[in-house]
Amino acid sequence: MPSRATVPSLPGVSPGLLARLDAGLKDVEALLNTRVDHDDPFIAEANAHLLHAGGKRFRPLLTMLAAELGDGISPGVIAAAAGVELTHLASLYHDDVMDEAVTRRGAPSANAKYDNSTAILVGDLLFGTASDIIADLGPEAVKIQAQTFIRLCSGQIRDDRPCPVDVDPHAYYLGVLADKTGVLIATAARYGAMLAGCSPKTTGIVTEFGERVGIAFQLADDLIDITSTVDVLGKAPGTDIREGKRTLPIIYALESTDPADARLHELLRKPTPTEDEVNESLALLRGHAAMGRAQKETLAMASAAQAALDPLPDGEVKAALQSLALRVVRRDA
Ligand code: IPE
Ligand code: IPE
Ligand code: MG
Ligand code: MG
Ligand code: MG
Repeated sequence: MPSRATVPSLPGVSPGLLARLDAGLKDVEALLNTRVDHDDPFIAEANAHLLHAGGKRFRPLLTMLAAELGDGISPGVIAAAAGVELTHLASLYHDDVMDEAVTRRGAPSANAKYDNSTAILVGDLLFGTASDIIADLGPEAVKIQAQTFIRLCSGQIRDDRPCPVDVDPHAYYLGVLADKTGVLIATAARYGAMLAGCSPKTTGIVTEFGERVGIAFQLADDLIDITSTVDVLGKAPGTDIREGKRTLPIIYALESTDPADARLHELLRKPTPTEDEVNESLALLRGHAAMGRAQKETLAMASAAQAALDPLPDGEVKAALQSLALRVVRRDA
C-alpha cells in the first residue's frame, strides 16, 4: 500500500486542528480499506486498485473541515467522508471508460488494466458500498447521496455530448461542471456541517461554498489537462482534446477570429486527432491568450467560493476553508 495522503499545509491552521484532520484522514483511510475488501480475491484487488494507487483525498478533507465549524470530527463524519470518497472513486472508474483514459493516479486505469466491463462493474460495486455506508447515517443523508448521484451522472452524460446548437457553449460548460464535479464537493462539505450539528444556515453556506469550490476545481483540472505532464498529473494530459471536449480554454480559443489561430481551429475540429495533432494543439494552446482568460475565470470562481463564507464568523476553520479554495486553483495535479 502506498504512503497515504496527508493534510496540505494551510496557513493559519493551528497544530491542534491539523492533528485532528490528520487523525481523521487516517480513520477515513482505514474505513475505506476495510470496505473495499472482498471475499473474492479478484474483486478485492480490482476494488482497491485505484484506492491504493494514490489520490489527494480532497473531498474527505473538506467534510472534516466543515465538521470543525460545528461539533467536530466524529465517527459519523468519518463515515460520510469515506462515503463521499468512494462515490468519487467509483465515478473515476466510470470516467476513465468514458474518456478512454489509460492512466489514473499514476497507475494504469482500471479499464486499461482489466477491461471496460470490469471497470464499469467495479465502479457500480463501489457506488453500492458508498450507499451502504451513507445509509447508516439516516434518511436525510441517503436522500442527499441519491440527489448528488443523479446530478453527477447527468453532468457526466452531458459532458459526453456536444453542446446543443441553440445553447451558449459557455453556459453549457459551466452547467456541466456544476453537476459532474460541483455537486459532490458541495455534498462533501454539506455532510460535514450537517453531521456536526451546524445550523441549517451554516450548512447552506458551506454547501454553496463547496459547489463553487467544485466548479473552480474542475476549471483548474481542465487547465491542468493542457499545461501539466503525466508525471505530475498521474493521468495523461490532452485527454480532453483527444476526446473532443470543449473546455473553457478551448471555447475561448475557438471564439478567436485571429487568422493566426486557423491551424489551432483546424486541429481542434478534427473528430479523431492523431497523437501528433493532440501534441500540436497542446503546444498552441499553452501559449494562447485563451489560457489567461480561462485562468482568470477560474480564479474568480475561487474568489466567489471564498465570498460565500462571508456570513460566517471569522476563525481558523473559515480561514482554512478560504485558503483551500485558493489552493484548488493553484495546484498542478
Ligand atoms: C479528479 O478528481 C476528477 C475531477 C473531478 C477533476 P481529483 O483531482 O480529486 O482526483 P484524485 O482523487 O486526487 O485522484
Ligand atoms: C471528470 O472530469 C469528473 C468526474 C465526475 C469524474 P474529467 O474527465 O476531467 O476528470 P479527469 O481529468 O479524468 O480526472
Ligand atoms: Mg476523465
Ligand atoms: Mg471525463
Ligand atoms: Mg480532466
